[in-house]
Amino acid sequence: MISRRQAARALVSLFGAAPFLHSEGPIPSDPAAIDWNDPLYGPVSVMDFAAVAKTKLDPLAWDYLEGGSEDELTLRENLSAYGNWIIRPRMLTDVHKIDTSLELLGAKLDYPILLDPAGGKNCFHQAGELAVSRAAANARALHITNGGIDDLIDSGAAPTFWQLTTGGQLLNAATMRAFVKRLEAQGCRGICFTVDIMHVSKREREMRNKLERSWCETGIPARGGTGRLPVAKNPWRAGIWPSRPQPTPTWDTLSELCAMTKLPVIVKGIMTAEDGDRCVKHGAKAVIVSNHGARQLDQVGATIEALPEVVAAVSGRIPVLLDGGIRRGTDVLKALAIGAKAVCVARPYLYGLTAFGERGVERVLQILKSELALSMGLAGVANLAAIDPSLVRRKTR
Ligand SMILES: Cc1cc2nc3c(=O)[nH]c(=O)nc-3n(C[C@H](O)[C@H](O)[C@H](O)COP(=O)(O)O)c2cc1C
Repeated sequence: MISRRQAARALVSLFGAAPFLHSEGPIPSDPAAIDWNDPLYGPVSVMDFAAVAKTKLDPLAWDYLEGGSEDELTLRENLSAYGNWIIRPRMLTDVHKIDTSLELLGAKLDYPILLDPAGGKNCFHQAGELAVSRAAANARALHITNGGIDDLIDSGAAPTFWQLTTGGQLLNAATMRAFVKRLEAQGCRGICFTVDIMHVSKREREMRNKLERSWCETGIPARGGTGRLPVAKNPWRAGIWPSRPQPTPTWDTLSELCAMTKLPVIVKGIMTAEDGDRCVKHGAKAVIVSNHGARQLDQVGATIEALPEVVAAVSGRIPVLLDGGIRRGTDVLKALAIGAKAVCVARPYLYGLTAFGERGVERVLQILKSELALSMGLAGVANLAAIDPSLVRRKTR
């Protein structure tokens, strides 16, 4: 018997991809094949893409993309804390060839940069999830998806991890099993379990803007002649006293989930040594040191600051990944030196998506990947195995 996925693949190869599977990429990797006058090649860094993205978005959507929670202290720290680490470059090593490839949970990757899950992409680009997943496939990157890309997955075009929310899928063993079964049938690579979002956080930009929550799915409506948006029926608000109708997941839930699937379960949202150790003990196959892009609990510190303690506690038993504030290849290099196996990014590719759609996502990944390779070449490390803690030191004040 052939699986649903195999059947869909066969259909696609018979009749060609359906229009919605049409890809704008891949963009050229050979500099000689690039039209450097194409506006896609105007921005030269991730933050250049942010500047373009800002001009293209309604201010409400920009705030939703860029913002964090409460005082946004963590948001600023996620970015600035990379400056607390200094690279210790090695001279006269042979760096004529740079190899950024690695193996992560059985997947062979060309480079250690993954795409994080991000909800509400339609605020930035219609059918944004599909565009990101197609770009990830073109760029040969792993995409942790929020879902809604079943056709793309069935076509075999998306090398994909799945995000598991803390919502309906975890209600009980039956809903969990149904979810896991579906992902396994789709040939999904793994399950990402986000653990830092048990309550709606206090996002004060969204509250002040009265962002209608459904606009995260439909996109921000066009402003009429008055320049006003429709009045939100369900504006963003944090609960007066937070509560959820059902009990929230616990470590037992993680054990249960890990026991019912052969897919690796990756826990996203770990910030302490104790929780890193618990992840291993409860069956996780990897952890992502993450503070949700500073969009959940504020004042938890930068992820790069939390990385050393999680790496020490996990002690090589499972891979540790990191996200939060990665904007440069040097940020990636530092995270790898401190002990991350790979990093994930969200806002960087969302800037690319907003600015240029699918090709923008690809170009941002290309820039980050090239910056990483270049930084490795300049720091005297020809491959990822050569990157170790001696490549960085803490800045002395
Ligand atoms: C617009 C937006 C939406 C996000 N939605 C989700 C989500 O649905 N699930 C999740 O686990 N993380 C979500 N995140 C957090 C990211 O997955 C990631 O942890 C974080 O943004 C990484 O930091 P960076 O944006 O500085 O790269 C979101 C982030 C952004 C910016």
